[in-house]
Amino acid sequence: MVKLKNIFVLALFLISIGGVSFSTACSKDKKGKEMVSQQTGEHGMPADWKFTMPHGDPVQGRKIFVEMECYKCHEIKGETFSAVGGAEKGVGPELSEIAGIHPVEFIAESIINPNAVIDPEDKEKGYLGDDGKSKMPDYNNLLTIQQVSDLAAYLASLKGQKHAVH
Ligand code: HEC
Repeated sequence: MVKLKNIFVLALFLISIGGVSFSTACSKDKKGKEMVSQQTGEHGMPADWKFTMPHGDPVQGRKIFVEMECYKCHEIKGETFSAVGGAEKGVGPELSEIAGIHPVEFIAESIINPNAVIDPEDKEKGYLGDDGKSKMPDYNNLLTIQQVSDLAAYLASLKGQKHAVH
């Protein structure tokens, strides 16, 4: 009789444990679903989603601009980089007013994927090679994502004279 009672208690105990773990599993499921349903737009992507760059440091970016010798092709008015002569001088656009023209993500894309946007005037300006592609070198194996963010942050800080009010 005593033994039977013990088995009964044990059974009750096991059922209650089972119940608890079952209910926690359920509530986890519920939470997961709630998180997904908070996002709007197609396939869980917010409707106003936009690619964002990680935070960049403009001071570091300027250093990288010098280390990578970006100034050889890109003049920046008001900056004092080493004097540039030779074939690369003026190969790329002057960048002192780029902040007034392009957002930081566009600037970053110009660095990691120079051919993503080719301006129709780029050819006349001598920015393209014979293959119709940008003369800008590929830095993707040389720069970390942080360095790209820093470079973009530096260039995005260049407001020039005309766009100084932005
Ligand atoms: C060999 C020359 C050359 C070097 C070196 C070079 N670029 Fe360029 N860059 C170009 C040319 C040509 C263009 C214009 C065509 C294009 O948009 O790719 C350009 C375009 C850009 C643009 C877009 C400008 C705009 O108004 O749309 C950015 C930003 C830029 N370069 C950043 C850099 C950075 C940062 C470096 C160094 C890591 C660098 N470039 C090194 C040739 C160069």
